[in-house]
Amino acid sequence: MMPNSTVCADARIRAKGIPLILFFKEDLDDKKYLKRASDIAGVNLKDYIAVKDFKAGKDSSFEILFPKAGRKRVMVFGLGETAKAGHESLWKSGLKLFGRLKAKPAPELALVINLKRLDSDLAKTLVAAMFDAAWFASFNFEKFIRKPKRKGISGVQLLLDKEIKAAPYKALVKEREIYGEAVNVARSVIVEPGSHLPPATYADRMVEHLKGTGVKVKVHNLKGIEKLKLHGVLAVGRGSKNEPRYVEMSWNGAPDSDKWLGLVGKGVTFDTGGISLKRPQGMWKMKYDMSGSAAVLGAMLALGKMKAPVNVRAVTPLVENMPGGNSFLPGDVITYDNGLSVEIMSTDAEGRLILADGIMHLSREPEISRVVSIATLTGAMAIALGRDIAGGFSKHEGAVEDLKAAALRAGELIWPLPMHEPYGELLKSDCADMKNGGDGTAGSIVAAMMLDRFSEQAEFVHLDIAGVAWMFSSGQPGPGDSTPRGVGVKLLAELAKRFGGDIA
Ligand code: BES
Ligand code: MN
Ligand code: ZN
Repeated sequence: MMPNSTVCADARIRAKGIPLILFFKEDLDDKKYLKRASDIAGVNLKDYIAVKDFKAGKDSSFEILFPKAGRKRVMVFGLGETAKAGHESLWKSGLKLFGRLKAKPAPELALVINLKRLDSDLAKTLVAAMFDAAWFASFNFEKFIRKPKRKGISGVQLLLDKEIKAAPYKALVKEREIYGEAVNVARSVIVEPGSHLPPATYADRMVEHLKGTGVKVKVHNLKGIEKLKLHGVLAVGRGSKNEPRYVEMSWNGAPDSDKWLGLVGKGVTFDTGGISLKRPQGMWKMKYDMSGSAAVLGAMLALGKMKAPVNVRAVTPLVENMPGGNSFLPGDVITYDNGLSVEIMSTDAEGRLILADGIMHLSREPEISRVVSIATLTGAMAIALGRDIAGGFSKHEGAVEDLKAAALRAGELIWPLPMHEPYGELLKSDCADMKNGGDGTAGSIVAAMMLDRFSEQAEFVHLDIAGVAWMFSSGQPGPGDSTPRGVGVKLLAELAKRFGGDIA
């Protein structure tokens, strides 16, 4: 569904029948805001608030049906103490809110927020979080359902008091719309079952999504991958009858600059573990092992749509990791095109093997000064940082700072983890330059350190999204219930925009 967000003045909405959402913080004493909200809704809110004993606590809400002729619904929603809230918690409140609304059809909505009462950073964070949540909630994956419900939100308007300058909010709402759409594109490929989206089909889907955006795409088939000498992709891809693909994308938004950012996204369309087969519990979820590549796709889409003044080259190795008569084996040694060799301890540590090719390939280009890889790389991430926070890795302090700043703008959570040099010892192999796994301790760090060895002149940054790429069932049906989260789309795009800022 094409989202459509606008900013408009209160007066324009007064007459329309669009459902309204009125936001309140714990302070309900702002008479001017109460009057404004009452005027728009066409009711005396003070009476409702008293009768409902509404305190505007976090995620509390009540509805007013048929407040006046021509309008069917008004929802009053409590934000609690916004002063302490960041994007993540506001976004989760938004998911609850739009979940409640989604149960009943509400294709178009108008939001009324007391922006004057908030400091301007918080006001922007709140608006961004609510629009992000609205577009997140508008995502449906119902193509296999006999009677699709097709409920969603197609339009959201932000109503602005005439005392608030509209231009910055217009820009913000437009940006969040582009992000919302790009995140949902990422989610749509992640949620697709593995058998329905093998590498070749997935590559076609990428081409389709990038059409008309100005992002150039090139798909390499098996022969092309052989020519490029991507030995990691070839080894991992060998066990499947579905051939691997290697997709290159490029966005040249700053043609006067020869500074480029590189992105590499893990695209394992299904990870069985290969010969080192995974246990069956939860294996179904390994259809999401291409979430890194989906984040890259989404970010390129967003950058193209925003016409971001930055140059980005992205690659996504796409493989299916399968056990089979032709599979690569534990104990095998892969020699990469740069001469480095890797002994296979587990065919289930396949992500780093295909990312190594992409990192090597991009970091060889002299104009690419930073390479960022993103992957559902290690199960250990969920143990270390849980289901909300992704791990960020880099030996370069400036890159870590950029990552933090980009995450804040994106509304994503990352936490830097150390590239602790002595742990590199764990990668020692008796018959190759390194192994593809350590002894199980600090698994996420060891994986990042292996990847770092494949980066040549470029600064290397790595994001492990294994813990956060899927949102688990909350037990409460709603838009945040067991669904891909589309993480990394906004983060990579913001990181690229920062990188572009350095060009200008
Ligand atoms: N795709 C998995 C990582 C993963 C595991 C993501 C669980 C999400 C949930 C990756 O390919 C993998 O299997 N990693 C192994 C590495 C180990 C064999 C060194 C892991 O984390 O167990
Ligand atoms: Mn694996
Ligand atoms: Zn994997």
